[in-house]
Amino acid sequence: MINPTTPGPAPDGRPFGPQHTPYEALGGDETTRRIVDAFYDHMDADPAFATIRALHDESLVAARDKLYMFLSGWLGGPPLYTERFGHPRLRGRHAPFPIGEVERDQWLACMAKALDDVGIDGAVRAFLDERFRHVADFMRNR
Ligand code: HEM
Repeated sequence: MINPTTPGPAPDGRPFGPQHTPYEALGGDETTRRIVDAFYDHMDADPAFATIRALHDESLVAARDKLYMFLSGWLGGPPLYTERFGHPRLRGRHAPFPIGEVERDQWLACMAKALDDVGIDGAVRAFLDERFRHVADFMRNR
C-alpha cells in the first residue's frame, strides 16, 4: 500500500501518478490554498510583479478562488474548477490579456516566491517548477 502523503517517487518508479499525486505529495487542500494566497499576496505587494498585477481586477478575490480550484484538479486532487466552470481552456481564457516573456517570467517568479514561502521543495518542487514553466510559456500570445 502506497502512503499517499509520502513525497518522492512512487514505488513503480514514476515520480507521480494516480496513486501518488502532486496534490497529495504537497499537502492537499490546505497547502494548495496557502500557495495561491501567497502567490496573490506577492503579486499585490511586490512592484516586481506590477505588470501582471495591472492585468487583474482591483479585487483579487475571484482570481484567488479560481486559481485555487484550478490547481486542485490540475495537481491530481478534486476537480473543483471543471465541476463549476467546465473545461479550463486556459489559453483561450488568457487571450484577452497581453502575455509575452515579461508577463510569463513575472508569473513564474511570483509563483516561485509563493512555493518558497510555503516550503515546497524536493521532488514535488522540481515537478511543479517544470510543469509551471511549461504551462506559463504556453499562455504566451505575443
Ligand atoms: C503566464 C502569465 C500569466 C498571466 C499574465 C496571467 C494572467 C491572468 C489574468 C489577468 C487572469 C484574470 C484574473 C481576473 O479575473 O482578474 C487570469 C486568470 C486565470 N489564470 Fe492566469 N495568467 C498567467 C498564467 C497562468 C498559469 C500558468 C496558470 C495555471 C497554472 C493560470 C491560471 C489561471 C486561471 C485558472 C484563471 C481563471 C480563469 C477563469 O476562469 O476566468 N494563469 N490569469
